[in-house]
Amino acid sequence: MNLNLNNKYALVCGSTAGIGKATAMSLATEGATITLIARNEDKLKAVLAELPQQRNHDYIVADFSNPEELKTKVSDYISKNHGFHILVNNTGGPKGGPVFSAGLDEFESAFTQHLKCNHVLAQTVVPFMKEASYGRIINIISTSVKQPLDGLGVSNTIRGAVASWSKTLANELGQFGITVNNVLPGATGTERLTEIIKNKSAKTGNTEEEAANAMKNAVPAKRFAKPEELAYAVTFLASECASYINGINLPVDGGRTKSL
Ligand SMILES: NC(=O)c1ccc[n+]([C@@H]2O[C@H](COP(=O)([O-])OP(=O)(O)OC[C@H]3O[C@@H](n4cnc5c(N)ncnc54)[C@H](OP(=O)(O)O)[C@@H]3O)[C@@H](O)[C@H]2O)c1
Repeated sequence: MNLNLNNKYALVCGSTAGIGKATAMSLATEGATITLIARNEDKLKAVLAELPQQRNHDYIVADFSNPEELKTKVSDYISKNHGFHILVNNTGGPKGGPVFSAGLDEFESAFTQHLKCNHVLAQTVVPFMKEASYGRIINIISTSVKQPLDGLGVSNTIRGAVASWSKTLANELGQFGITVNNVLPGATGTERLTEIIKNKSAKTGNTEEEAANAMKNAVPAKRFAKPEELAYAVTFLASECASYINGINLPVDGGRTKSL
């Protein structure tokens, strides 16, 4: 199998840390030219410097709390530079907590960051993908698409909406050589996971180590994922090798999800 992503342009969101950063590295290693997106310009510059330097990687500073501005920035970028064959939709996860006590503003901001931003980005990149007869839209969501996770009420709710949006888009765009798939991380060693462990420890009175061990024990693999393990799945889905895989939810969770 040859994943060869030479001459492919990839827009990788939330790519200064965690799964997004690992994905940018992995796609670049396979030959893609990367445009990073996140809010913190210093971190973007630092990741840019880590990417293989033989191609013109670049970045856009944008905040997923403002979809209109995001759309304008990415449209301007495309008109001045190039379109994208690969879009990785990814951003920070919504705040934790039970669904019953969640405020309307929490649902609204999670819907904006996760659904509206994915949508405007897809609308912005798809015309070039159609022309190229090659498109890969890969959404980083969560295993909560298949099995809601305790203490992540708003996240569980919005993730379902994103998965449904994605499946519908896959049905509409398949005829143009564009696939739309979701990668569902289980517990993955990133800043987001550190935050989740801290919340669990505060809620239960267990130490952070005890909270982390309880989470690991719930996984058949008995460990957390490395961000690279997610990135490899995304890289495969981005390649020509995955051309007949469309509209799926791929858990990368060490077997934690109980559903078939
Ligand atoms: N890690 C896990 O165990 C796990 C499990 C299931 C699902 N997930 C989901 O997978 C996704 C990625 O998780 P991760 O663990 O890799 O997260 P992470 O380590 O917290 O990284 C988040 C990335 O998104 C960027 N970002 C955050 N808020 C943003 C905003 N408003 N606008 C633009 N960029 C923003 C951050 O950069 P800036 O701060 O510079 O903007 C950073 O690059 C999240 O949706 C998360 O909930 C993670």
